[in-house]
Amino acid sequence: MNRVIVEPVSRLQGHLKLPGDKSISHRAVIFNGMAQGSAQIHGLLNSEDVEASRRCMSALGVKIERQGLDTWQITGLNGRLSDPRDVLDCGNSGTTMRLLSGVLSAQPFYSLMDGDNSLRSRPMGRVTVPLRKMGADISCQGEDGRAPLSINGGELHGIEWDSPIASAQVRSALLLAGLRAEGCTRIVQPYGARDHTERMFERMGIELEILNDDRSMVAIEGGQTLRAQDIVVPGDCSSAAFFVVAALLTPKSDIHLNQVGLNPTRTGAIEALQEMGAQIETHDVTQQCGEPMGTLRVRSSHLNGIQIPAEMVPRLIDELPILAIAGSMAHGITEVAGAAELRVKESDRIESTVAMVRALGGKAEARPDGFIIEGSGGDPLLGGGEIHAHGDHRIAMAGMVGAACSQRPCAIIGSEAVAVSFPHFWRT
Ligand code: S3P
Repeated sequence: MNRVIVEPVSRLQGHLKLPGDKSISHRAVIFNGMAQGSAQIHGLLNSEDVEASRRCMSALGVKIERQGLDTWQITGLNGRLSDPRDVLDCGNSGTTMRLLSGVLSAQPFYSLMDGDNSLRSRPMGRVTVPLRKMGADISCQGEDGRAPLSINGGELHGIEWDSPIASAQVRSALLLAGLRAEGCTRIVQPYGARDHTERMFERMGIELEILNDDRSMVAIEGGQTLRAQDIVVPGDCSSAAFFVVAALLTPKSDIHLNQVGLNPTRTGAIEALQEMGAQIETHDVTQQCGEPMGTLRVRSSHLNGIQIPAEMVPRLIDELPILAIAGSMAHGITEVAGAAELRVKESDRIESTVAMVRALGGKAEARPDGFIIEGSGGDPLLGGGEIHAHGDHRIAMAGMVGAACSQRPCAIIGSEAVAVSFPHFWRT
């Protein structure tokens, strides 16, 4: 495990372009691999997680060629993948495993998906239960509905699925299965979640029925064909959030983050920070391949604590560790509820977030479905402690920002975890 020492920084200034969005990158690889035709992906995130999707799709027969620094050519197999004849290694990536479970359930061969210890500990019943109802022969080899997953692909039929959780991965897995199933597949969730699948499907020629304003209900008719589409991947707004908070917390900072994805199902953290008093402006918003992107200008700000309600959680779920850092140096209390999902992310992010804030000298307490943070009243935390990433990229990066904004150097243990979504984070 790597151990890096992070020194406090005095201020942040300049322009930065973030690496490509992780969620959109996975989908660009998987959907174009399933499509008819060939497409170029520009700005694809080159990280361990997306590499897991590339590796699996290549093993399933898809031709994926690098054409430049971050440009890739993908030639799709028009819905018919080939037998991988070996275990599909999904690494640390829940998105790869859950989305591919929807794909493989409808392919006429046997496949086995596995991953690292973190992925083996994450719940898969959320996709395997509805997929079985669609007729999939899928079983969990791990304990209690966990990976490895073995799938005997075959014919599927549409279902109506009322999901107890708002999850983009679940919805995407069922839409991918529904694409190849007979009849209509309809998915209802308590709230909307990120809608990159729906946007990319529509661009690739798929007709969807999206039934609620918050996009919490979607239906797809089976038998449609995905058509390959060139994609420009925007910068990842979840990665941007680390620099946003670093600039807010360091005095006299003023930064511009360019070409950041601003899909409204992903910008909950920006809105929460603005509500806390953050000076964040959005400029030059354009639409690229069905996704909004633009520039964020961020200046140092005095922040106040807020309450983050359950219905907002799906729109900022991945940003909660870095929002905890913002809360720890704000005035007053920051409280998060309805976020039990954090317990089954790459680490138990309720415990790892609380431990991170405490290691920096802040005050935090875990709740079953969230946490509560008592802010320092606008002062930098004392720092000086050791933060354990627990194999979780977002804890490593949030910890580093917390350390950079504290008074004394801190150690980050397990810093290599950043490679999952942002390999050059330390250098950046
Ligand atoms: C993702 C969806 C989210 C998110 C994850 C990536 C995706 O999880 O936390 O990092 O790309 O679909 P849910 O499926 O729980 O919404």
